[in-house]
Amino acid sequence: MNKKNVRDIELAGKRVIMRVDFNVPLDGDTITDDTRIRAALPTIEYILDQGAGLVLMSHLGRPKGKRVPEMSLAPAAAHLQELLQRDVAIAGDCIGEAVAAQAAAVQPGQVLMLENTRFHAAEEGKGPDLQEPQREMARQLAALGDIYVNDAFGAAHRAHASTAVIAEFAEAAVAGFLIEKELEFLGKALESPERPFVAIIGGAKVSGKLELLKALVGKVDTAVVGGGMAYTFFKAQGRKIGNSLHEDDLLDTVNEIIAEAVTNGVDDMRKTPFDMENGIWT
Ligand code: 3PG
Repeated sequence: MNKKNVRDIELAGKRVIMRVDFNVPLDGDTITDDTRIRAALPTIEYILDQGAGLVLMSHLGRPKGKRVPEMSLAPAAAHLQELLQRDVAIAGDCIGEAVAAQAAAVQPGQVLMLENTRFHAAEEGKGPDLQEPQREMARQLAALGDIYVNDAFGAAHRAHASTAVIAEFAEAAVAGFLIEKELEFLGKALESPERPFVAIIGGAKVSGKLELLKALVGKVDTAVVGGGMAYTFFKAQGRKIGNSLHEDDLLDTVNEIIAEAVTNGVDDMRKTPFDMENGIWT
């Protein structure tokens, strides 16, 4: 897949606004798994080594447009500072005049982390009333840098102000190394997979992964659905799920996906009765 990346662009003396996925698990202020922060380090270090200043933005959790102190990115900024062994400043917000002034002052080699983008409902832009605010937020975010870099692979499926809409307003928009690596890997896996090809899909909801599921059931030999979203599949098949998380409006869609998978010859584990009490296929 040919996507422009940070290697294709002159970075020296520029200020980069970069979207990362620092949606890390927290126990109070302690990051219990820093994999996502480490995954962004190659791009961050490359940009700084090339002589650019860096403004980082991310979401954390689902604060739904409210300022939730427990979902601040301050612990992530502090952790990044340790990993980089250089100062990482944290802004009080991600848009607004104060942030614009702080970002404008970022010099080559300096790093500023913006506060959680999801503290603003405009980030997700849910509903017609938020379409214009989302564009305005994206415009403001784009103005914080000369170049927009997206390396937030974990959030790349979201059409949010800081992930997608911003690219319309940025003078230049390129991918980071993490996105590049994942696209290359996914491209190879989907275009010429080694068989047997098994997809393991999880997460809380089916709704965010419909297109992915539809695309995969045409290609894989086996699909394993886990996590919270499995309960929507169980319910669609008439199984009891108690109070477990599920999406009633997707039961028909899920059955269509299963039917499509079976038509394509994907292993049909439903042939084997499932023992719900013991959680095993018998
Ligand atoms: C994730 O944890 O899957 C990503 O950071 C995206 O988060 P979201 O599902 O809340 O959009």
